[in-house]
This record gives sequence, C-alpha cells and structure tokens, in this order.
Amino acid sequence: MASDALTLDGVHAHYGRSHVLHGVGFALRKGHLLALLGRNGAGKTTTMLTIAGLLKATGGRIMAADREIEQLQPETIARLGVRLVPQGRRVFPSLTVQENLTVAAQKRPGANPWSVERVFELFPQLRPRHRQRAGTLSGGEQQMLAIGRALMGNPDVLLLDEPSEGLAPLLVVAVADGIAKLKREGLSIILVEQNFTLAMNLADDVVVLNTGRVVCSESADAVRANPDIATRHLGLF
Ligand SMILES: Nc1ncnc2c1ncn2[C@@H]1O[C@H](COP(=O)(O)OP(=O)(O)OP(=O)(O)O)[C@@H](O)[C@H]1O
Ligand SMILES: [Mg+2]
Repeated sequence: MASDALTLDGVHAHYGRSHVLHGVGFALRKGHLLALLGRNGAGKTTTMLTIAGLLKATGGRIMAADREIEQLQPETIARLGVRLVPQGRRVFPSLTVQENLTVAAQKRPGANPWSVERVFELFPQLRPRHRQRAGTLSGGEQQMLAIGRALMGNPDVLLLDEPSEGLAPLLVVAVADGIAKLKREGLSIILVEQNFTLAMNLADDVVVLNTGRVVCSESADAVRANPDIATRHLGLF
C-alpha cells in the first residue's frame, strides 16, 4: 500500500536447516517508527537481516519502494533506500570518522541529501572527533557513526538493530534524541530494542516476536495504555 514504507507478509527464514522465522508479517507506515521487540533469540536480528537481503527469505514477500525485494541482493536493496545499522555497530576502525562517512555516501533522488556536515548536526559529539580513527571512539560514538554511515546512503527506511546496546545512560539519551530527530524528518524506522522504555518513548507501532512468530502487533498508544499486552511476551517483570 502506498502509505506503507515496508511490508512483510508471511516471511520465513532459515539458517541452514534451522527454521527461525515462521511467517512473520507486519507493515511499517511511512514516516513512522515501529519498535520490534522480543526476548533474546526471538528472531529480531534475523528479521532485520532478511529485510536487508543479507539472509534470503525462504518464503513470503517483502515489499519496499513499490517493489518485491525479498530476492534482491543486499546492495540493490540498499540502493532502493532500505539501510541496516547492524547489531554491534560496524564501522571501519582504521578509517577516521570523516572517512567512514564519506566512503558510505551514495546518491539517491531525495529532497534533502545527507552530508558529513548534516550528520555532525545530528550527532554533535562526532564533530570534534572527525579526524579520529573510528576504532578509538567510545561505544556510543561508534553507534552514532554507524547510524551516520547508513544515513549517508540517503535511505527512506532505516533498520536499527539494538542501537542502545551496551551504552552508558547519557549516550543512550543522545542516540535516542538522534533517532527522534530522524523520525521528525520523515524517515521510516524499524527499531529493535531491549530497552522497553526507550522503545516506547519513540514508537508509533509495536511488534513483538516470540520464537520467530509475531505474538503482538499493536499501536504504541495501545501498549502505553496497557503495557502488559506487550511485556508479557518480553519476560521483563
Ligand atoms: N548464524 C546463525 N546460525 C544458526 N542459528 C542462528 C544464527 N543466528 C541466529 N541463529 C538462531 O536464530 C534464532 C534467532 O536469533 P536472532 O539473532 O534473530 O535473535 P534476536 O531476537 O536478535 O536475539 P538478541 O536479542 O539476543 O539479539 C536464535 O535461536 C539463534 O540461536
Ligand atoms: Mg539480535
């Protein structure tokens, strides 16, 4: 549907013979943030890898940019505007901050293209470190840089896999502020998070996975009004 940035319909995925996703389906609305939650091993990262084409879906359909993308190569999916920031924040450790950003630049038709300067406006902590090697940044700064690298590809859809993992509280706030700004600028975002409070502060929609199946798919307002509909699947309390 034109109002959706990305849809999954009955998606299956395997690692070898191990069947991990069992018919996952949900829709990410344009300009909205969907929080994808679930216990460790629920299939969140697998879902993100499958959307990005790094793991081939073994069944079902994934639609983005008005195309079926589930059989496309990862580079093609990225060029169509779907970008993954993988769990564990991958940056090139021996390149500087600035080099990490410039090598990731990819033009796409869009009203407001990303530049190194714009990434520094989003994450001001990175600016004074532009000549520093990325491998020497703190975990939070590396996370900001990893998001910045994805933005340099001018995406419409951003897939963020546990951006707050392992960060000190102040850096979690800085990363969350950056994500909130991206949402206000109209990006469509899937946010995988273990930090339920952070996810609920940002989300419009909530999907919870359990053993590779969707067990809760609700508006964030419904979850805020009755958190138990999501948290009973998360083992939080
Ligand atoms: N490369 C792999 N080979 C085989 N099995 C895998 C592989 N990666 C993940 N799995 C299995 O697939 C299931 C889903 O894993 P996935 O990484 O998607 O979980 P997750 O929800 O992202 O968990 P976490 O919150 O710990 O990151 C788990 O049972 C995991 O052991
Ligand atoms: Mg994961």
